[in-house]
Parts: sequence; C-alpha cells; structure tokens
Amino acid sequence: MISWDRIRYSVWAPIYDRLVARMDFGPARRRSIEALALAPGDRVLIVGAGTGLDLEYVPAGASVVAIDITPAMLARLERRAASRAGRTDARVMDARRLEYADASFDAVIAHLVIAVMPEPERGVREIDRVLKPGGRVAIFDKFLREGEAATPVRRLVNLIARPLFSDMNRRLEPLLAGTALRIERDEPAGFGGWYRVIALRKVDTRPRL
Ligand SMILES: C[S@@+](CC[C@H](N)C(=O)[O-])C[C@H]1O[C@@H](n2cnc3c(N)ncnc32)[C@H](O)[C@@H]1O
Repeated sequence: MISWDRIRYSVWAPIYDRLVARMDFGPARRRSIEALALAPGDRVLIVGAGTGLDLEYVPAGASVVAIDITPAMLARLERRAASRAGRTDARVMDARRLEYADASFDAVIAHLVIAVMPEPERGVREIDRVLKPGGRVAIFDKFLREGEAATPVRRLVNLIARPLFSDMNRRLEPLLAGTALRIERDEPAGFGGWYRVIALRKVDTRPRL
C-alpha cells in the first residue's frame, strides 16, 4: 500500500524547491554539514534527502547515498546530482527500514525529516545502526526544547501542519534514548530558535580489548 507520506510529498515535489527557497535555509544547511568535517572517501547517507538541496554542501570527495520514500522528490535529486562532481547514489527507501549493513556509513545527514516521518524513533534507531562508531549525524529541523510546552496556537496549527507537511511539536531528546547517539552541539538556526542545527556523535560502546 502506498503511504500517505509518499502521497503528500508527491504533491509537494513540483513546488518544494520554490517553497523552501523562501525560507533561506542555505546557511543552516551549510553549517550543519560543515560540522560533519567530512574527509575525502567518507561515505555519507542522506536520509529523507528530498530534492537534493543538501548536495551542494557535501564536498565532492565524499560519496553520497541519498534515500527517500517519495520517488517524485528523488527524481529531482537525481537531476541535481548529475552536476555534482562526487558520486551520488539515489534509492527509494523507507528510513525506518534502511537496507544497509550495520556501521556502513561515516556520517548521516537528516535535514527536515525527523519532524516529518511517522515513527521517528524507528528512523533514529536505523541511523544509529548504520552509522560507524565515532560517526556524526547532522540534523537541521524544528523541535520543541526539553521542558518547553507547545503553546495552544502551535498545537492548533499543528492539527493542519502535521498531516500535510511536518509535525511542529516533536522533541529530539526522547528519540535518542536507547541509542549510542549523543548531542555534541545544538544551536538555533532561524525562526526564533524554533529551527535548530544539531550535531550528534555515535559513541563507541564496543568493549576495549
Ligand atoms: C520536508 S522534506 C525534506 C527534504 C530534504 N531533506 C530537505 O532538507 O530539503 C521531507 C522528506 O522526507 C521524506 N520522507 C518522509 N517520510 C520518510 C520515510 N519514512 N523514509 C524516507 N523518507 C521519508 C519525504 O518524502 C520528503 O522528501
């Protein structure tokens, strides 16, 4: 069965870039991806990669695997990737069931997807699984801060925003529970700090020999 997620972003796909261009997210994307400190040869997974607006900020020396549940979004990413110097593989895939081996990526980019996808705890667990120990995750999204309550207006607006576009009232911290992912940096990135650039690192839990 085709998911609602795929249907709604198939509708957004033709106008997504124009909508997002109005928000001026470029500097936040750049800052978030720079924090990954990518080295030549690194393998980077972009989860919920959409139309590929992150690609221009990933150094050419890194090879990119871009996954998204919506073929119409990925078709645009593939066109964009054609002018990228580095290697880019695009695959239609559900972030809740990544078809990659454990510890197979040096870094993960998850921009504007954790607040969008259903069952985000499954998506975060999958990111943790496929990331190498010591690897980093770049998150750019909107979250409620710990201890912050959603205002009644925000709850009301979310009744419409959540099914159509994105959940405005998620918290990141509970999603990290039970994973090896730890917050290294957390900075405001627009809209009065509602959007945040967050860097995670996967701690190495393997026993020392
Ligand atoms: C708001 S867009 C963000 C796209 C891109 N990351 C960006 O920063 O512009 C959310 C994307 O997440 C994708 N998505 C939603 N649920 C997903 C899932 N379960 N697995 C993979 N992608 C998903 C949608 O298809 C859409 O392309």
